Amino acid sequence: MIITIDGPAGAGKSSVARRLAQRLGFYFLDTGAMYRAVALAALRRGIDVSQPDRLAALVDKLDIRVDGDRVLLDGEDVGQAIRTSEVTALVSAVADHPRVRQRLVQLQRQAAEGRNIVTEGRDQGTVVFPDADLKIFLTASPEVRARRRQAELLARGESIELDELLQQIKERDRRDQNRQVGPLRKADDAVEINTDSLSLDEVVDRIEALVHEKERSIGHLDT
Ligand code: DC
Repeated sequence: MIITIDGPAGAGKSSVARRLAQRLGFYFLDTGAMYRAVALAALRRGIDVSQPDRLAALVDKLDIRVDGDRVLLDGEDVGQAIRTSEVTALVSAVADHPRVRQRLVQLQRQAAEGRNIVTEGRDQGTVVFPDADLKIFLTASPEVRARRRQAELLARGESIELDELLQQIKERDRRDQNRQVGPLRKADDAVEINTDSLSLDEVVDRIEALVHEKERSIGHLDT
């Protein structure tokens, strides 16, 4: 079974997908972490991300493995290093490149082979797994997302003004929605859930109920 969770930055996709996967005993794939790993590699090598050829050459030779919360870049665990503000500032530009997307989409499909999976990102239900069994589109207002991001950063000792975070989120939304390949868009057959006034468990409960409904309907078709 493939469950996709797409939506804008800060809507709660990772937390929801991780907990849902835990409850169901499914594999969890954070596709944003893969884009972040490419951005980190570009940053470390001083590659200008506005040069498509250099970025394409880089992504082709990187070994990126995501296993739950472990993100390995050429064998090194970069789970922490990909979450810094520098990587966050660069990653949208990296994700704009069609060759980068092509390679990562290929890796994402490989990761799902022969597995039950909960995968989260921007294009999972639209581009990567158009035949997924259940598609969720998670949203939240920009203000709520900025507040969540501020709390997350504070927990890691980074303090940033709310206004600045709000601007960053709006800019990321604009880029995510307008990229030529794999833009952020709700799939026609996705279920939209607004998380503004829902707790993490409430969101996961709703999705879990949809999964069981789906399982029943698949079972019904099989018999
Ligand atoms: O979810 P995140 O913030 O970790 O994602 C990092 C960036 O990667 C974000 O700017 C959007 C991009 N991304 C994407 O283009 N497609 C995906 N499937 C996942 C993330």
